[in-house]
Amino acid sequence: MKLWENGLHGELNKFADDFNSSISVDGRMYKQDITGSIAHAEMLARQNIITVDESITIVTALKQILSDIDEGKLGIDPTAEDIHSFVEGELVSRVGDVGKKLHTARSRNDQVAVDVRMYLREEATNVIDLLKELIEVISKQALKYKDTVMPGYTHLQRAQPITFGHHLMAYGFMFLRDIERVEDAIKRINISPLGSCALAGTSFPLDRISCAKALGFDDACRNSIDGVSDRDFCVELAADLSLIMTHLSRFCEEIIMWSSWEFRFVNIDDGFSTGSSIMPQKKNPDIAELIRGKTGRVYGDLNGLLTLLKGLPLAYNKDMQEDKEAIFDAVDTVQLCLSVFIPMLDTITANPENMRKAAAAGFINATDCADYLAKKGIPFRAAYATTGEIVAYCTKNEKTLEEMTIEEYKSFASNFEEDIFDAVNLENGVTRRVSLGCASGNSVEEQIKYITEKINNG
Ligand code: ARG
Repeated sequence: MKLWENGLHGELNKFADDFNSSISVDGRMYKQDITGSIAHAEMLARQNIITVDESITIVTALKQILSDIDEGKLGIDPTAEDIHSFVEGELVSRVGDVGKKLHTARSRNDQVAVDVRMYLREEATNVIDLLKELIEVISKQALKYKDTVMPGYTHLQRAQPITFGHHLMAYGFMFLRDIERVEDAIKRINISPLGSCALAGTSFPLDRISCAKALGFDDACRNSIDGVSDRDFCVELAADLSLIMTHLSRFCEEIIMWSSWEFRFVNIDDGFSTGSSIMPQKKNPDIAELIRGKTGRVYGDLNGLLTLLKGLPLAYNKDMQEDKEAIFDAVDTVQLCLSVFIPMLDTITANPENMRKAAAAGFINATDCADYLAKKGIPFRAAYATTGEIVAYCTKNEKTLEEMTIEEYKSFASNFEEDIFDAVNLENGVTRRVSLGCASGNSVEEQIKYITEKINNG
């Protein structure tokens, strides 16, 4: 029996019925659907639209339905049209005609919108909790490796010495912004559309605000058409989730690269890598690769949502039923990826010797040499040119800046003194940095303090 069966409509074709049904996707919102109905029924009684007795009968049965589903005593019927039809049908079968009063001054159009908003605010909060956990693990690893020198790259060319801790903390700040973005999205998710009804509101004297507050919303939407047709909040959350995946994917790409034989900067724990079925020596970074791969599907979800809404006339259209599959997939995927990435990162170990070795090659202290001359009063451009000549000389003679003799240095500029060796020392190149947010170990400690304070106190 369909909610909309009223004697006017003939029977639905079997294929059309299956095609139309969304219960396999929206069944997961049973808790939100029932909670929303309870608040609606209680508000109807407060407003004398139904009697208190009727409300009590409805609410008691709804609570029972909820606990029956939770406890596995009541299965969600896969042939129902959607979760709203299922819950209402179950209610009517338990309490009879009084159950039919629940849908007074309500439509499935505002009902589905309120359910999705309640569902997503909870899932978004779970994402924030996972991001906080991730930042804690990043900070822990960054503290451990705050003085571990490695080459910093631009264009994937060795550029300047940095610390592994500093590099890790760059990701910490990306995920901090992700938290702020999701928090911001929750503000717009947390507005109740309930009481918008089909699209035009109702002549029943609803108290939309008290109903919204009872459901934990900050406010009720102020335009009923917007209330039932707005899915911006899904798009916005999907965009935020896409960016989280972008950050995870970049991190995974680096972990994949760093764990290769070419780099050997990090070791992925056996618990998070696999072997090859043919090449016994292989240790594959499958988990990191899979997270990188799953980034594509979350981008796809965002694109799907944007395309779904483009050109839809106001107000509700059945196209909008497709929103849930996309946004649910995006929240599921992000949570899944974060849940496996966090312990993988927690158990990764670095190889400081290999990082140091890579940092020693490639003249990543050339800028420090130029800075040295600039500090001696030579204009930076001239110091830069002289250092270029020195690097060319070193390359030709197969030596590093640390291996040059003072005589050799002096042959390029008389300003060079013994302290040039301090200046081009790799560790010094890092520890001597003093600017806010720089690569030094001290700075890494300050960054950890800053980010910890932010995630604990907002
Ligand atoms: N299953 C529908 C959805 O997810 C619920 C709303 C149905 N409304 C309607 N007018 N057919 O969008």
